[in-house]
Amino acid sequence: MSETNPLLNKRSPREEDIYEYEEYDEELSLSPGVKYTLYGLAGFLCVGILYVFTVFLPAYFIPEAVELDDIVKISDLGVELKPLVSTVMFNDVVDSDDFVDELDSDDFDDELDMLEADHITHYEDENAVGGSKNTVERLIMIGDIHGHYIELRHLLRKVKYNKKKDYLLVLGDFVSKGPDSQKVIEFLDKNNIDCILGNHEFYILQNYVKFHGLKFPDFIVGNSTESIPLDIHVSDAFNDDPEFLLAKKLQPEHIRYINKCSLIKKLGQVPVYSKKKSSGIFKHITTTKSSPGIAVHGGLRWDLSLEDQNPIEALEMRSLVGPYFNRSTDDPHEQFSVSWSKVWNKKQKRSSTSSVVYYGHDARRGLNLKPYSRGLDTGCDRGEQLSALVIWNEADATGGIDQIVYKEKVVQVMC
Ligand SMILES: *[C@@H]1O[C@H](CO)[C@@H](O)[C@H](O)[C@H]1NC(C)=O
Ligand SMILES: *[C@@H]1O[C@H](CO)[C@@H](O)[C@H](O)[C@H]1NC(C)=O
Repeated sequence: MSETNPLLNKRSPREEDIYEYEEYDEELSLSPGVKYTLYGLAGFLCVGILYVFTVFLPAYFIPEAVELDDIVKISDLGVELKPLVSTVMFNDVVDSDDFVDELDSDDFDDELDMLEADHITHYEDENAVGGSKNTVERLIMIGDIHGHYIELRHLLRKVKYNKKKDYLLVLGDFVSKGPDSQKVIEFLDKNNIDCILGNHEFYILQNYVKFHGLKFPDFIVGNSTESIPLDIHVSDAFNDDPEFLLAKKLQPEHIRYINKCSLIKKLGQVPVYSKKKSSGIFKHITTTKSSPGIAVHGGLRWDLSLEDQNPIEALEMRSLVGPYFNRSTDDPHEQFSVSWSKVWNKKQKRSSTSSVVYYGHDARRGLNLKPYSRGLDTGCDRGEQLSALVIWNEADATGGIDQIVYKEKVVQVMC
């Protein structure tokens, strides 16, 4: 049929065809009015299709962009630990792995509210200990989660996380690599769980501002700000870098959550012990000695104040390079380098103002518990473990605050 339709036939008419053409012309030609209506409709269709592909679909799949706030470089925990009287709390920690199947339930809130740690008794007078800060019973820190949502839920059940009584802080790298980055962010956000910025969250923020053409935030230090160069780890607009693809998909509330994580957090007094403990044997300490605690994702330079730490180094360092150990590297095989925590511990022992650092980032060295540092990235994304470190204080029933003991315990699940 199209062969003979003069509107579609592009052959130059041969002699013998001309008569036929004229005939068909009369039969099939459309009136000018109808023709223009059809052209008009076709035009509308094209514009419509163009609109769907260039405006509607991108807006549908690429969430609205939000401007980023400056990142807080150093924040305070904002709560303090209320000493507990009982010592039986951890004797009944669930130690089996058979509740994974129950994790599909969607009512997180109900579930978390029900997870009461049963055997804790409290000081009757809430004001007997502590100042104006709110108090919590336990501080729980979790190493690099990397989107492993199921394992995170599993670990929280194992430590009997109670969101009303515990303060939970994730030590960065809760996104990227693993299967459920968005689910992890949503869970942390929904339950008001606090976070430290990890290098992967930092890369996500960088990809996000690049993709949306936004300004990269500065770091707030005291009441001034510090800019950092934006040229590392940023992907170009059209690529399949997983971090870039994740940044593109993130909803405004995901980005706002990541944007709130601070680089460094001061934790208040935490336990110090005297010898390096082998991670195989040691999982639980009790001590009367304490020092200020600090949380950071990568590590800290021993020779700089918290204010002077370089944000990129704090996110990425694994080792320090000799002979002065005043330069960091993320490559643990670099010549003359030793783990930053080794240098840190050596220096803290000789210092009158020592601090204990809780960090992640170094899956290769795994659980790394030293007197003044606790490495908690235990390689969940490599099929190893996800680790929580729980800190709480106890006082015997007869004693006052001078009888406080500082306690710490590692709880792990397999990944
Ligand atoms: C903040 O800035 C003001 C001046 O703008 C200064 O007087 C004050 O000392 C600063 N505070 C801190 C903590 O740096
Ligand atoms: C490290 O310290 C040495 C000796 O004080 C100094 O010469 C060098 O410039 C420092 N390097 C850095 C990166 O600060």
